[in-house]
Amino acid sequence: MTEKPKIFLTRELPPETMSLLHDQCELTMNREDRVLEKSEIIAGIQGVDGLLCLLTDTIDADIMDANPDLKVIANFAVGFNNIDVAAATERKLPVTNTPGVLTETTADMAWALLMDAARRVSEGDRLVRTKSWNGWGPLQLLGADVSGGTLGLVGMGRIARAMAKRAIGFDMRILYWNRTRLETADERIMGAEFVELDELLTLSDFLSLHVALTPETKHLIGATELAKMKSTAILVNTARGPVVDEQALVAALQTGTIAGAGLDVYEHEPALAPELYELENVVVAPHLGSATIGTRTKMGNMAANNCLSACRGTRPANLVNPEIYV
Ligand code: GLV
Repeated sequence: MTEKPKIFLTRELPPETMSLLHDQCELTMNREDRVLEKSEIIAGIQGVDGLLCLLTDTIDADIMDANPDLKVIANFAVGFNNIDVAAATERKLPVTNTPGVLTETTADMAWALLMDAARRVSEGDRLVRTKSWNGWGPLQLLGADVSGGTLGLVGMGRIARAMAKRAIGFDMRILYWNRTRLETADERIMGAEFVELDELLTLSDFLSLHVALTPETKHLIGATELAKMKSTAILVNTARGPVVDEQALVAALQTGTIAGAGLDVYEHEPALAPELYELENVVVAPHLGSATIGTRTKMGNMAANNCLSACRGTRPANLVNPEIYV
């Protein structure tokens, strides 16, 4: 019998994934419910074939060099900005992610934030819970209509498309901006119109961000962009915190440059700009985009299978750096 691969896991995953891993590999793992220090990851990967890690683990060249026999870095996330992919590629080290399985779940979360911020659900919840609600009022907590509004999508990948699908049900005008424009036929299917970013900012009632975090998208939405938005507009971010200049967003929310925001991600997670804890016109969720039992299980199984494949010397299904195999 061939030996089972050795894998180091940085934090416990859903039960079905844990069974799969226990069954198919020799597993060592962090058993504490916390993010590991760099030195702990370095210690953990000694003598293993695969690293199964999370978006909260920063995986840099030092970590890669701490075990030159490492065969794969498998990320439990679709985003992989936490990994120095260029350094991995230089070392011919495959990096994998978990695309596709979290698309609908993340779009649901973005939609939930959009609806909450528009209709002031969390604000109302606070009013009720603090026993400050004195009864129905004709001018109480008036929000914005989602139905019939204009949705602006920044990026047009899988999650943005899932947003467009939802927007059709709300009779919305759907605008998008993307590095590359879709084929006309695709635009027609999506019911989405391409506009330049400036126009998207100006026309959108709801602006939802769906781009990967890269050096080009860092602070894509800053003071200049926020100033171009409608004063009634709502910004939704389920992508990555640094896509938005958080301090500029705070200022825009404080001064009424925009009406509100629904955020799932932050520039310096888990810390938020201090003002965000206090502002009423922002809904702040703790990075829950993919957080359903079903989706996290699918992500776990996908990441585990990617890791196992590469450890066994076969090409994993969800490679971020396929060029290492050519
Ligand atoms: C979550 O943020 C992910 O990238 O999967």
